[in-house]
Amino acid sequence: MTETPNETNVLLIGSGGREHALAWALAASPQLGDFYAAPGNPGIFDYAVPTNLDTTDHPAVVAFCREKAIGLVVIGPEAPLVAGLADDLRASGLAVFGPDKAAARLEGSKGFTKDLCAEFHIPTGAYGRFTDAAAAKAYLAGKPMPIVVKADGLAAGKGVVIAANIAEAEAAIDACFEGAFGAAGSEVVIEEFLDGEEASFFALCDGDTAIAFGAAQDHKRVGDGDTGPNTGGMGAYSPAPVMTDAMIERTMREIIAPTVAGMKKRGTPFKGVLFAGLMITAKGPQLIEYNVRFGDPECQVLMMRLSSDLLAVLLAVAQGRLADAEISFSSDAALTVVMAAEGYPGTPRKGTEIHGLASAQSLEGVEIFHAGTMRDGERILAHGGRVLNVTAHAPTVAEAQARAYAAVDLIRWPEGFCRRDIGWRAVARERAGR
Ligand code: AMP
Ligand code: GLY
Repeated sequence: MTETPNETNVLLIGSGGREHALAWALAASPQLGDFYAAPGNPGIFDYAVPTNLDTTDHPAVVAFCREKAIGLVVIGPEAPLVAGLADDLRASGLAVFGPDKAAARLEGSKGFTKDLCAEFHIPTGAYGRFTDAAAAKAYLAGKPMPIVVKADGLAAGKGVVIAANIAEAEAAIDACFEGAFGAAGSEVVIEEFLDGEEASFFALCDGDTAIAFGAAQDHKRVGDGDTGPNTGGMGAYSPAPVMTDAMIERTMREIIAPTVAGMKKRGTPFKGVLFAGLMITAKGPQLIEYNVRFGDPECQVLMMRLSSDLLAVLLAVAQGRLADAEISFSSDAALTVVMAAEGYPGTPRKGTEIHGLASAQSLEGVEIFHAGTMRDGERILAHGGRVLNVTAHAPTVAEAQARAYAAVDLIRWPEGFCRRDIGWRAVARERAGR
């Protein structure tokens, strides 16, 4: 394919199920020119050309983009954003979807986000920031329990402890400062426990304008009934019933708009997708945390529902034209079931063979996104913790759930497992007619 003036060559950075879903949606764009991925995965390579770029080598990525006349770089994961890849690409005049390093602090430092909330009156739990254990422990005195202890930096979702009492909170503080989360734990945030229903809320931002971009709910615990250890997410569905139009409007007004305005005022405008982890409390939406990228697996269900041209939308964000973008979602529900390798979220078993993907994929309304696979000739092998995202859309969550599990049941992979109850809360709501 050669570039015509109407086509945009794209480089997609990342290698998970989130990036496969983005690749799938980008590939549907009539505007897509040449399409490259780094590092990519076997699912992504159905659409995009592999590169051998080292994405931590920013000058090499810039040189590649110049050579291939890349018109848009889409950065999926947080690590390259926190490392400043978007800054270096923008400094070279390239269009990038994803925030600069200074704006990626919203995910890179929980204390940074809490301070922003305090400065701009954004609803969130009360908190303290600490760099030594004694001061952190002193803060606990007289506070209501449970209380939440967090490592300040990126800890792959593992640096959060909900402590039932002072002894547990003190143990969590000691673990952080003793290096359980490496550099991420050199500062600790202690915050009020928020009670309510969680939702993942997404807003696109071009530095000035912010537009709501869907909501989802995920299941973080490894076991059915929301039991067992935390994971990166075992499944998700969209829309999130708790995010009614009124709640979305309130979240945009009380949380997203002041964040975007505050970041702009500080001279560090946010350009990309803001992923707000919300607790919907009796007092309204409260911010738990920000991520500066799409959720994984939340992105997979958003992409299944998006009816606009993703490439046009992401380009509008990158070029500061979001106010003119056309964004619409299907009224269908979408649901994704994560299939993980035995051992996850501990050490997953690698190299086992997966069969039946083609027949599962052929079911109506089903897409299978690769999260942690590798190709060995014709064989697809497990190569990570979360391995596949079996995703379906249908008019209701219950029907999307039935389709997704019908597909799961066609996949023959004895060394894999999944939860059997993804979407249970929304399905129960549908049954009750609420
Ligand atoms: P995080 O890594 O900040 O997303 O936290 C992981 C999970 O811990 C969240 O998805 C919530 O379920 C829970 N959590 C974090 N902070 C709070 C809080 N202040 N109140 C209640 N639950 C929380
Ligand atoms: N599913 C949660 C995340 O992407 O952080």
